[in-house]
Amino acid sequence: MIVLIGFMGAGKTSVGALVASKLGLPFLDTDASVATLAGRSIAEIFERDGEGAFRALEREVVRDALSGPDAVVALGGGSLGDPALSSLLDRATVVHLDVSFTEAMGRVGGDAARPMLQQDPEALFAARDAVYRKHAEVSVMTDGRPPEEIADEIVRVVAETSGSAP
Ligand code: S3P
Repeated sequence: MIVLIGFMGAGKTSVGALVASKLGLPFLDTDASVATLAGRSIAEIFERDGEGAFRALEREVVRDALSGPDAVVALGGGSLGDPALSSLLDRATVVHLDVSFTEAMGRVGGDAARPMLQQDPEALFAARDAVYRKHAEVSVMTDGRPPEEIADEIVRVVAETSGSAP
């Protein structure tokens, strides 16, 4: 199980899909699963029901994904707030897609589909960054790099980490 973590705009979805296809594993994006489960977009869930309702759905989806069959899983940027995840993450290789605040804002700043950016994104970034670093087993810098190159690096590093040849 490979789990991708990182701030909004780090590239978890695009890089995760590439890593999954390179390794022949299923790809799960927890944001997409939340939207499917709710039958509406993340922005609509936040708007109609609030962040608490979104987090409850997210907890369910993330716990299911991490207890399921081997896969590449892209976690929504705020999902590590669930304290029950630590034990589930033990069986995964946790990869932090590192991105600078400036680059992340260049990629997703002003994106109405990401309600958390309507608060204070810089303060959120600082708080979240510490959490990602605490959980990361592998960290890959993404600034200025194409998803394909990042995915190749992850495949290589994960093979080294798990002791098999790339
Ligand atoms: C969030 C990140 C988003 C999504 C939701 C909340 C967050 O996912 O789960 O808008 O709290 O950081 P991405 O990190 O995939 O953009």
